[in-house]
Amino acid sequence: MNVGIIGVGYVGLVTGSCLARMGNKVICADIDTEKIDKLNQGIMTIYEPGLDEVVKAGLAETTLRFSDQIESTVEESDLIFICVGTPSDESGAADLKYVKEVAKGIAASIHRYKVIINKSTVPVGTTRIVQKIIEENMPHFHEFDVVSNPEFLREGSAVEDFMNPDRIVIGSDSQKAIGLMTELYAPLKAPLVIADSASAEMIKYASNSFLATKVSFINAISNICDNVGADVKKVALGMGYDKRIGFEFLEAGPGFGGSCFPKDCKALIKIAEDSGYDFRLLKGVMEVNEAQQELMVSKLKNLLGGLKEKTIAALGLSFKPNTDDIRESPAICIIKGLLKEGASVKAYDPVSNENAKKILPEIKYEKDAYDAVKGSDGIIILTEWDEFKWLDFEKIKQTVKNPLILDTRNCLDPQLLRKSGYIYQGVGR
Ligand SMILES: NC(=O)c1ccc[n+]([C@@H]2O[C@H](COP(=O)([O-])OP(=O)(O)OC[C@H]3O[C@@H](n4cnc5c(N)ncnc54)[C@H](O)[C@@H]3O)[C@@H](O)[C@H]2O)c1
Repeated sequence: MNVGIIGVGYVGLVTGSCLARMGNKVICADIDTEKIDKLNQGIMTIYEPGLDEVVKAGLAETTLRFSDQIESTVEESDLIFICVGTPSDESGAADLKYVKEVAKGIAASIHRYKVIINKSTVPVGTTRIVQKIIEENMPHFHEFDVVSNPEFLREGSAVEDFMNPDRIVIGSDSQKAIGLMTELYAPLKAPLVIADSASAEMIKYASNSFLATKVSFINAISNICDNVGADVKKVALGMGYDKRIGFEFLEAGPGFGGSCFPKDCKALIKIAEDSGYDFRLLKGVMEVNEAQQELMVSKLKNLLGGLKEKTIAALGLSFKPNTDDIRESPAICIIKGLLKEGASVKAYDPVSNENAKKILPEIKYEKDAYDAVKGSDGIIILTEWDEFKWLDFEKIKQTVKNPLILDTRNCLDPQLLRKSGYIYQGVGR
């Protein structure tokens, strides 16, 4: 099938290159010409395991193209995916300005039947808004359908998630559009959830908010564990074996972050409010999350008897391992808290140093973890990159001012570290 992707970020690039790998002819278009130039040369614009190979294979087989021409992308495609960002506005609602802009652009170039698919995470009712914008901005009427098809991929395993989804949600009342979408996704052999567009849009927010709730729940439990002398890792293990609960998203830590959970929780709170419902549960989830990030700063402050003029080694900047995405990363928020308390910070992340420099220029960035920890009063683990688990902590002990670790990701072995003379603190253990 001929597929157009508008917005070549984390979702658009993965969706476009994977659909090309599945045998479709795909054009990915973006207004960011620098990004398009790089991608046309096979240079990756994001760090995502396995994506490089998929993109290069698509370019080599000419099933994948990159363009800064929205018009011709729409003209040449039968199915057009909207994959632009939907950031929070001041009220917490999802800002639809990019989606609306793209809808207008699509309208101008429709000259035969097209399916316009909204993959961006958008509030309930957006499918109808997009439909209306297209109707009002089409120079000549042509039949089209707008479908909601939320994306559930996770950064860090996005290609794998796209190719092996737990389910595919298609929100539409057009049999013609549902038929084409079913055909497009048939090779993935995933369960299809066909729904009306409002339910499809709600599925995405409800799913992300539910997962965020699990994270805040276990973080709250971890704080009680700290108070009563229980180990949250064991608690989560004992809970996770219960099939009704499961192991995933039960890892205590510094709170959730990333470009989706905080934004989508805020948006659902606003959707609920606008519909006349006060979503107190989700407000609590957000409150617990914010407090958890602040708690990490207090923990380090208590361990060191104050942070003024202390040098802290921050290991990890991305919101989770295997991505360079630092949007709403707890690491960034915690580092800002440390700076506010008068500490100076030396940071290292395997792939996110450059991204972090743009929003946090006031700290020092090091080329590896060993350089970052040299001369530090305390080490804080902020992202559970595998390479941090395998550091030579004996060697590190010789180079730090003070052998002290706050492991906000519970990814190190407390017993081993304590045995070799470290002051170790985790979260809820
Ligand atoms: N990142 C994730 O893990 C993830 C997962 C599931 C769903 N989502 C949702 O998918 C959407 C996209 O997220 P993302 O992380 O890929 O965003 P992103 O910021 O990485 O990418 C958005 C892209 O859209 C482009 N763009 C903006 N306006 C445009 C226009 N008028 N025409 C063409 N291109 C335009 C930008 O230049 C950018 O490249 C959001 O709604 C997000 O909530 C994201």
